[in-house]
Amino acid sequence: MKILAISGSAAEKSSNTLLLNAIKTRLNADVEIEVYNQIRNFPLFRPEGLQNQIPEIISDFRNKINNSNSIIICTPEYTHNIPAVLKNALEWITSSGEFNNKKILPITFTPQSPRGEFAMQSLLFSLQALNANIVTQLPLYKTDFKTNPEKIEIPDEEWQMIKEAVLLLG
Ligand SMILES: Cc1cc2nc3c(=O)[nH]c(=O)nc-3n(C[C@H](O)[C@H](O)[C@H](O)COP(=O)(O)O)c2cc1C
Repeated sequence: MKILAISGSAAEKSSNTLLLNAIKTRLNADVEIEVYNQIRNFPLFRPEGLQNQIPEIISDFRNKINNSNSIIICTPEYTHNIPAVLKNALEWITSSGEFNNKKILPITFTPQSPRGEFAMQSLLFSLQALNANIVTQLPLYKTDFKTNPEKIEIPDEEWQMIKEAVLLLG
C-alpha cells in the first residue's frame, strides 16, 4: 500500500509534519508512506490559472495523489478553520478530481481548545465536496505527545488509534 501523507501546516518546521514522519517511522514495511510538506509553496489558486500551463509543483502534487492508493492529511487549526495553504491545495485539485473516491484519513493535531474540531469540520466539508472516501477521522492533541523541535514520540494509546485508522486505508 502506498500512502501520500500531506501536512496541512504553513510552517516550514511543523509539528504536523513531524507527526507524519513519526507515523512513517513506526509503520511496518507493508506500507510505503511519503510525507509531503510542500503545499506551503503552492501558488495561490485562481480559476484563470487552469487555462494556462499548470505549475510544475501542482502537476507533481496531482501525480503523487494519482500514484498513491490512499491519503493522510494531518493539519493544524488556524483561526477556527483549516490553514489557507490546505484550502488552496484542495482548490487546485477541485476540477481535476484527484480525490474522487480516494481513501482519505483526516487528522487534526492541535495544542489548545477547541482542539481542532472546527478545522476537522471544515476539512470534512471540503473532502465531501471533492467526493473523497473518508475512512474515519482522528483528532489528536499535542498535549498527549512528547514533543521537541526535532521529533515527536507517539504514546501507545495514540499509536493504537493511528494504527487502526491507517488499516482502514488498505
Ligand atoms: C494563524 C494561526 C491561527 C491559529 N489558530 C488556532 C485555532 O483556531 N485553534 C487552535 O487550536 N490552534 C490555533 N493555532 C495554533 C496552531 O494550531 C498550532 O500552533 C499548531 O501546533 C501548528 O501546527 P504546526 O506546528 O504543524 O505548524 C493557530 C496558529 C496560527 C499560526
